Amino acid sequence: MAVSGQFDATVKVNESRSIKNSILETIGNTPVVRLGKLFAGSGLDVFAKLESLNPGGSIKDRPAYNIITRAMASGAITKDTTIVESSSGNFAIGLSQMCAYLGLRLVCVVDIKTTAQNVRIIEAYGARVDLVSVPDPTTGEYLQARLNRVRQILASIPNSFWPNQYVNKDNSGSHFGTTMPEIVDLLGSHIDYVFLSTSTCGTLRGCAEFLRERGMATKIIAVDAMGSAIFGRPPGKRLLPGHGAGIVPKLFSPDLADDVVFVSDLDCVVGCRRLVQHEAILAGASSGGVITAIERLVADGKLRLPARCAAILPDRGERYLDTVYSDSWVQSHLGVENSPI
Ligand SMILES: Cc1ncc(COP(=O)(O)O)c(C=O)c1O
Repeated sequence: MAVSGQFDATVKVNESRSIKNSILETIGNTPVVRLGKLFAGSGLDVFAKLESLNPGGSIKDRPAYNIITRAMASGAITKDTTIVESSSGNFAIGLSQMCAYLGLRLVCVVDIKTTAQNVRIIEAYGARVDLVSVPDPTTGEYLQARLNRVRQILASIPNSFWPNQYVNKDNSGSHFGTTMPEIVDLLGSHIDYVFLSTSTCGTLRGCAEFLRERGMATKIIAVDAMGSAIFGRPPGKRLLPGHGAGIVPKLFSPDLADDVVFVSDLDCVVGCRRLVQHEAILAGASSGGVITAIERLVADGKLRLPARCAAILPDRGERYLDTVYSDSWVQSHLGVENSPI
């Protein structure tokens, strides 16, 4: 169906129709949308992959699906297995969705920095939340304390399974097998740049390996948080969750990205606000980081133009209403007096 837009534009609505046999069948095949307003006249044709439209609200539905189904196929997970993972964000929600549908027990080890909303979402799916409230005494890090707790729980439950998203190749395998092929299917093999966020580096590794295997010359631009340790910098303070990591994940390797752009919390806020203002896409913090990174490289003359570019936008904005989209939060936490854009 096509409906007339407010002015002379013709706006098409989604015409694909098919009945799915379970919620899990709605994971993947997310829409690709041209960002025709934000980048008009820039010489850059930007296509956004909206991972927010996965049923759990983020790109992490893909690794959750791939890790669990492959472990079931190999026999590492049976119907009596308890899944134990350290995650308080999108991966925990993706796993909670998988385990709820499959009737598997799940324990999510979180720390006191986890948002109350995420705890409620995880619990609403029926998973158990195990709260770590004291950082690791040696490193002072919550991440280490959470990993210690995961090992403790695994040791206490005989039939238990650890997805271990920072290490598990079925994490990157999900992007090798679905995310990047879906983009190439729609955009063809002429893609000059792919911009993507990094945390476990599953997206980075999977997309890079797919492009290299296809022999494509596409340049991969990683977008990481300032204060993240992934690219060898010392870990530092960052407020917005999702991208960045306090460790160098096993899935990382320096040859995977052609370039890296570091974005601050404020860069993420500005990118998110511009994205919703111009394109009416309400996205999460790391998506805003990706938008700012593209704009920065265009402004600095670092991209060879004209060019076609894919931008992977990892999650939806509703879970950031009290941070990214709150002027008072931006003012009190980032020190910006007026609206940031
Ligand atoms: C919002 C958000 N952005 C980016 C990422 C990074 O993705 P990856 O873990 O594949 O590096 C994540 C991962 O959890 C995420 O939740």
